[in-house]
Amino acid sequence: MRVAILSDIHGNFDALQAVAQELSPNDEIVILGDIVGYGAEPERCVEWVREKKARATLGNHEACILGLFPVSWFNPFAASAILWTREHLGPGSLSFLGTLPLSFEDYGCLFVHGSPRSPVDEYITDPWQAREIFEEQDFSVCFFGHTHVAEGYVWDGKRTERIVFLDGGELLLEEGKRYLINCGSVGQPRDGNPKASFGLFFVEERRIVIQRVEYDVRAAARKILLAGLPEVLAYRLEVGG
Ligand SMILES: [Fe+2]
Repeated sequence: MRVAILSDIHGNFDALQAVAQELSPNDEIVILGDIVGYGAEPERCVEWVREKKARATLGNHEACILGLFPVSWFNPFAASAILWTREHLGPGSLSFLGTLPLSFEDYGCLFVHGSPRSPVDEYITDPWQAREIFEEQDFSVCFFGHTHVAEGYVWDGKRTERIVFLDGGELLLEEGKRYLINCGSVGQPRDGNPKASFGLFFVEERRIVIQRVEYDVRAAARKILLAGLPEVLAYRLEVGG
């Protein structure tokens, strides 16, 4: 069985289509939140997720759109995109977003947007923080998103090792070790690599492949500008930052 793990699509349908071309019809699909926000095609992205019957968790952008977080928690560009997105989602998509859980478990793994101890809003960014989470929380493998950086943390019971997937990579899960894995962002990478990022989990082999895919960044950026969204949201796509 192969599970495709997509996170932080952020309304970027061009990036999502490029990733979708890499998937097989038999893949199960998991989305780790932030389907919408920033990009100009939120409705098409939510429709795709629903059409594919993908399982998804709640992201902080969805939480804000649903009124669970105040808009003031976001920087002005993100806040303005959230308000725009709220106006550009149909009632079916809005009620679908309202059904998303904070986390779920399957294939022996935990799936969450932010972190196991604060599912929607904690950013996992360094090995010391990852170690705290390994010590506090009970999970074997956790897939997370939110930071838009493809990387992972491995805990062997004594120390935490950080793995960076700069232009993709592969990881074999070892018995006795625990993992926090971020497969990167489909629609707004922030690790200096503008290619869309996603993961493939080969369940029986316990193997994870992180893949980067080129897509038409210019087209996605143009749509953001034409929609009247903040210009910075278009330009950052070109640098992956
Ligand atoms: Fe995000």
